[in-house]
Amino acid sequence: MNKPVASELLQRPAAFAPYQDNQQLRLDAAAEAGAHQAGARVGISQAHESASLHVTGAATYTDDIPELAGTLHCALGLAPVAAGRLLSIDLDALRAQPGVVHVFTAADIPGSNDWGSIVHDDPILCMGEIRYLGQPVFAVVAETRAQALRAAALAKKVVRVEAAAPVLTPQEAHARGQYVVPPMHLTRSESGLDEAGIRARIAAAPHRLQGQLDVGGQEQFYLEGQISYAIPREGNAMHVYCSTQHPSEMQHLVAHALGVQAHAVQVECRRMGGGFGGKESQSALFACMASVAARRLARPVKLRLDRDDDFMITGRRHCFWYEYDVGYDDAGRILGAAIIMVSRAGHSADLSAPVMTRALCHFDNAYWLPEVAMHGYCGKTNTQSNTAFRGFGGPQGAIAIEYILDSIAHDLGQDPLAVRRANFYGKSERNVTPYLQTVRDNVIHELVDQLEEQSGYQARRAAVAAFNAQSPVLKRGLALTPVKFGISFNVKHFNQAGALVHVYTDGSILVNHGGTEMGQGLNTKVAQVVAHELGVGFERVRVTATDTAKVANTSATAASTGTDLNGKAAQDAARRIRERLAACAAARHGGSSGEVRFANDRVEVNGQTLAFEALVGQAYLDRVQLWSDGFYATPGLSWDKDRMQGNPFYYFAYGAAVSEVVIDTLTGEYKLLRANVLHDVGRSLNPAVDIGQVEGAFIQGMGWLTMEELVWHPQTGLLMTHAPSTYKIPTANDCPPEFNVQLFQGANVEDSIHRSKAVGEPPLLLPFSVFFAIRDAVAAAGGHRTPPPLQAPATSEAILRAIAAVQAA
Ligand code: MTE
Ligand code: HPA
Ligand code: MOS
Repeated sequence: MNKPVASELLQRPAAFAPYQDNQQLRLDAAAEAGAHQAGARVGISQAHESASLHVTGAATYTDDIPELAGTLHCALGLAPVAAGRLLSIDLDALRAQPGVVHVFTAADIPGSNDWGSIVHDDPILCMGEIRYLGQPVFAVVAETRAQALRAAALAKKVVRVEAAAPVLTPQEAHARGQYVVPPMHLTRSESGLDEAGIRARIAAAPHRLQGQLDVGGQEQFYLEGQISYAIPREGNAMHVYCSTQHPSEMQHLVAHALGVQAHAVQVECRRMGGGFGGKESQSALFACMASVAARRLARPVKLRLDRDDDFMITGRRHCFWYEYDVGYDDAGRILGAAIIMVSRAGHSADLSAPVMTRALCHFDNAYWLPEVAMHGYCGKTNTQSNTAFRGFGGPQGAIAIEYILDSIAHDLGQDPLAVRRANFYGKSERNVTPYLQTVRDNVIHELVDQLEEQSGYQARRAAVAAFNAQSPVLKRGLALTPVKFGISFNVKHFNQAGALVHVYTDGSILVNHGGTEMGQGLNTKVAQVVAHELGVGFERVRVTATDTAKVANTSATAASTGTDLNGKAAQDAARRIRERLAACAAARHGGSSGEVRFANDRVEVNGQTLAFEALVGQAYLDRVQLWSDGFYATPGLSWDKDRMQGNPFYYFAYGAAVSEVVIDTLTGEYKLLRANVLHDVGRSLNPAVDIGQVEGAFIQGMGWLTMEELVWHPQTGLLMTHAPSTYKIPTANDCPPEFNVQLFQGANVEDSIHRSKAVGEPPLLLPFSVFFAIRDAVAAAGGHRTPPPLQAPATSEAILRAIAAVQAA
């Protein structure tokens, strides 16, 4: 009866109005007014090119494409155990099911039974060795989707196996020395020490902290699940509509599975209902299986997973386990750090190696580490093969150093912000990363100063302390955390893109480029770039489906580089057309082609003004080529993967966030009361889209660190959290009542597309501030005597465990 009502936990904003106090949008409005006058199409909050289609339900996703007559449906039968051997499948029992047309096993794959992206270790269908519970063992093709699913669900009955004991955790895999790729080592010493020397430096430091940390994985939870629709075409060709971030890779893997050349496979994707990395490589299994079935049966085949199967079959963000050892001085400055990171890679390599590379290259986050020894291990486990997820290892690398710095602050009894600041990279010294790239564009000092001021951090720090002093059950916590995120694929050759721009004789423009649209607004930004280049209205420009038959050899839309790469390629194509049009205009109307101006759908030439489409019409009559390709390759990149050094990133994106939470020390619940974000997108191409990306990434990252929890049964290896019933993602109600997202004003120092910066992934690291605000509140519950052993996700259970630990200490 005496239990206090956690009224703060129950408070909800009266109306959901995230922009209430958003100065930034007012600033943008002013900037946009100026931009409009000048006819600029970039730097303005252009609505998403599909906004009205999205909200009216008219946007076509893969499953919305009208089905051809004769279309069949495929469903996958899954391994019922996590490890062991496949003995037999009762195919007759499956064939006898209503509507079943054919049952496929590994033996039915005409080409290679493999969809692995880098290491070719991913069978489409099980070849004997069972690798995880949920591994596709057979595929049923039936007249209807329901019939296929019903037959596939018989897997448990028709599949005979010899079960073995699974290895499930990264710790277990590490203890056995069982990895999907060789271990990676990155050691760097300002004073030329080797690993033993660095360890000695740590041991000799005035202060030392050693510890371990567990950070959980995360399901992409794209709203549109994995899907492929394969249509057989003449002469052994295949046309695949696929929800994928990587059409070119799907093309190659389908070609391999079918045993045909790449030119026989066309992969197309108009849009995804979210990818978040989950469709960078893992769309392949379904594209391959649908294509194999379509070829064999000579009918169109669709393979669409339901949510449970998507969870059971595909991988997600890697969980990480860390062991650290750091030495530091009285100011909390790190003198030396050693860390072992072990990820749960799952049963195959997939993208685990580049994910670990990015993790090791983000352990520094915004901090200079004079002596550092890092070791990364991708543990091979009998679980789904983990893969890309927004941040791609960057978040997992950076959270470890944040945990360490936060622990140092708790240990020294200092404000964590002071300790973080003491370790920031310098501007012209203390600015070389562990992988030997010099940080040339550091804005973290001014960005954090500005956010500290705007958010009233210091006053709120005092207010939180005052609140906690009089509140025995509810405790508040506050944290400010910074982000520095490297932009580019750290595989150099992926940093290229192509585009194709057509200008039709009515003056309308069609754009195609290598990137894919997953909701992030890539097509909108690319269309803005093209409209800007040709001086025409946005409505004139249409971006069509990504199609391997239009732009070849594309990279995945990933590493946040979609706009940087494809925007530049499309600009290149549009510029070529503009130059031809200018030459035509000068030839017809006099003056020099360099003085021809394109703006506001008009062309000014030699004192005359004509409509854009009028000039286009004249150019056509003059037999001028009105379409062009375009290409871009990011300059200045290098990466030595064996020594783990070079310049893997074109530039860095920065940001910082302040979060204030309240926790209920009796129930372990938390609520985010307020978040202030200042994020660097360079000179924004589209402030509304960028703010949307920052908000979305913030809430998604908060879900990762505070509520999304994956649980595999410790004996059977069954993923028990395989649907929204058991796997909790954030909802609109988890948005803080005050959510102030502002864009940091400043241009990219590099010559990126209109000096903007990539925005897709970096803001996922901003909600570290939520996790550390919770940790601060937990520390308060223990009287700030000891750094709380809070693990991520900070679920209610984890928060209660950490409270119990600090109160017992
Ligand atoms: N935003 C939406 N709405 N949906 C998504 O699937 N994926 C994220 C990010 N933002 C994603 C998103 C990821 S993982 C990446 S790498 C980038 O978008 C990719 O797109 P970009 O390079 O065009 O920013
Ligand atoms: N992000 C996404 N995909 C990748 C990367 C990356 O950094 N490197 C290689 N593939
Ligand atoms: Mo994003 S994880 O690089 O698809």
